[in-house]
Amino acid sequence: MVEARIDVGDRGGRCYVDTVKNAFAIIPSLLSNGVAVSDLQFTTIVATNGNGTHSREIILITGAGGWLGGVLAQVIRKDPVYTDAHLILADIVEPKPPKGVSEDDYVVIKADLSEKSGVQSLFTTKLGPPSVIYCLHGIMSRGAEDNFDLGMKINIDSTRLVLEAARKYKAPNGQPAKFIFTSSIAVFGGPLPHEVMPETQASPEGSRRGFVDGRVIRVPTIVVRPGLPSPATSAFLSGIIREPLHGVEAICPIGDSFDDPALDELEAWVASPGNVIENFVFASKVDTSNFKKHSRTVNLPGFTVSIKQELEALKDVCGQETLDLVKYKKDPVNARIVGSWPRAFNNEYSLSLGFVLHPGGFRQIVENFKADVAAGRA
Ligand SMILES: NC(=O)c1ccc[n+]([C@@H]2O[C@H](COP(=O)([O-])OP(=O)(O)OC[C@H]3O[C@@H](n4cnc5c(N)ncnc54)[C@H](O)[C@@H]3O)[C@@H](O)[C@H]2O)c1
Repeated sequence: MVEARIDVGDRGGRCYVDTVKNAFAIIPSLLSNGVAVSDLQFTTIVATNGNGTHSREIILITGAGGWLGGVLAQVIRKDPVYTDAHLILADIVEPKPPKGVSEDDYVVIKADLSEKSGVQSLFTTKLGPPSVIYCLHGIMSRGAEDNFDLGMKINIDSTRLVLEAARKYKAPNGQPAKFIFTSSIAVFGGPLPHEVMPETQASPEGSRRGFVDGRVIRVPTIVVRPGLPSPATSAFLSGIIREPLHGVEAICPIGDSFDDPALDELEAWVASPGNVIENFVFASKVDTSNFKKHSRTVNLPGFTVSIKQELEALKDVCGQETLDLVKYKKDPVNARIVGSWPRAFNNEYSLSLGFVLHPGGFRQIVENFKADVAAGRA
């Protein structure tokens, strides 16, 4: 939705119309009311709130006392979309008021944004909660390097407070605030391609300061999880095996029946609980020098299984009667979420580090769980 705007010289006010066509339609009445043609200015196009009525943006700039925030505060209203925007300028040092802006159209706030009350004050001004947030306050690179605790407090904890406040206080247009956060090219480190591409992985050197010897292990979906169903979207991947093995019905949220092709189509990346725990133990034993330079993240080994393959393994190990305890009730949300997860990883690196993948595939997992149930362990 766009809006044409006519400024009526110095004869007062502006005249908003919801389409360019209506702007032309209104001109005769302006002229008949004594407005001179030379007083009419068409000022391009401004944003509206989607129903044709104009809504002024309320722009919050944190770090407005700093370099970039300060420049942005002075120039943002020059953009045609933001000519009448309200500004909330905040910093721990008092930001300069924006030049040429009426006092009714901005507030300047001196506040420590590492304090919840300071952040709150930005969202409760006379202008209302912001619809656009430029989150520019922070402790720049060397400052945060030299004072690690301060860097964490301002760059992470305080940003989180702003995000939380934005979640709580909705702008008058009812939409989630646009949140512009300035990251840095320094998130890329280690061996880099000739050109950094949008898909190049950020790899900050998490353990380089020596505070911890970090190891991030990305865990596959663990099946079969014993005990009560978990609230996870992936819980059915265990449930369709666990419940029938206990002699109770299970709901499969994929497909309408055992023959539904959707059961073949949905695949998951899985590993057994015993396998994953063994890898947890090993994670503390990997020789630091074996990790790839500048990376401490490992996708744990696993394998791909389709829902159909799970059910076939259940049938093979426990028979048709047990399989018949699985009932089908489609849940598209569930299918969409699980279907959006990666279904295959390359295990080469994790195995080269010494992590393991138990053999036997899904059939072995069902056999192990059956033995656990029989022994009262699951
Ligand atoms: N300048 C660059 O080259 C560059 C490069 C990459 C990213 N960035 C990012 O852009 C943003 C702005 O950069 P800049 O060059 O204007 O930095 P700057 O240091 O000039 O401004 C940061 C502002 O944050 C304010 N601030 C610090 N602690 C605060 C607190 N507790 N509460 C409220 N305000 C606080 C400071 O007073 C300062 O005015 C930063 O987040 C920075 O990380 C800048």
